[in-house]
Amino acid sequence: MESLPTAAQNPLHIVEMSAKRRRTRFAADSAAAHALNRASYDSIAAAWDSARTTLQPREVAFLDALLEGLEPRAEVLDLGCGSGRPLAAEILARGHRVTGVDQAEALLALARRRYPDGNWILGAVESFAAAQTYRAIVCWDALFHIHRSLHALLLGRMVRMLAPGGRLMLTVGGSEHPAFTDTMFGRRFFYDSYPPGKVLEVLVANGLRPVLAEYLNLPAGGRDKGRYAVVVEKP
Ligand SMILES: C[S@@+](CC[C@H](N)C(=O)[O-])C[C@H]1O[C@@H](n2cnc3c(N)ncnc32)[C@H](O)[C@@H]1O
Repeated sequence: MESLPTAAQNPLHIVEMSAKRRRTRFAADSAAAHALNRASYDSIAAAWDSARTTLQPREVAFLDALLEGLEPRAEVLDLGCGSGRPLAAEILARGHRVTGVDQAEALLALARRRYPDGNWILGAVESFAAAQTYRAIVCWDALFHIHRSLHALLLGRMVRMLAPGGRLMLTVGGSEHPAFTDTMFGRRFFYDSYPPGKVLEVLVANGLRPVLAEYLNLPAGGRDKGRYAVVVEKP
């Protein structure tokens, strides 16, 4: 496994930097992570699409919790939607409207072709801001591709884009592990996450109520850093 020399992994270096340089360094880290993941997802789009076809049983349970009680044709936002399959496709099939946002043009092109009823936007989760609110928001297996220094800010933005009574469905990494890169289909990807407890703390501090929360993979100590899923509701 290779590692990017992130600020999070080099705390002594950070201490020696001025606040301005530290901000520049974090911005450079996040931009590098974003560029790496975008190029990598674009180049593995076909392999990813062939592998990611059906919902896993716990994903169905989380989707059920997300969409419970929603009126027909409710507006749902999917941040890091990939090819739209299987999550956005299932939400559309259940009679809702989906706006999907993803940085990877090749994956989004698949979503556009297969699901013309969806509203597919090429863009970064970091810069997406909507004037409207959504009845439900999904950010599934995408936040952990973004530098953790941005997570609290992005979670706060998701909460503001959520309509009262709306729910947010999210996965994060399962441990305290520092930022790292790993390979998938022969390409390198950047990963970073706060541990689940801290993410829940941020969500609760933003006024959200946990509905469903559990480990999908326990951190195995080696390559698997774990993966934790939540559905939270805005009062
Ligand atoms: C592991 S895939 C998950 C896709 C989909 N949510 C699913 O569950 O099948 C991660 C997706 O997030 C997208 N992504 C990662 N970082 C992103 C970012 N900063 N802005 C927009 N999309 C991002 C990738 O392009 C990729 O499509």
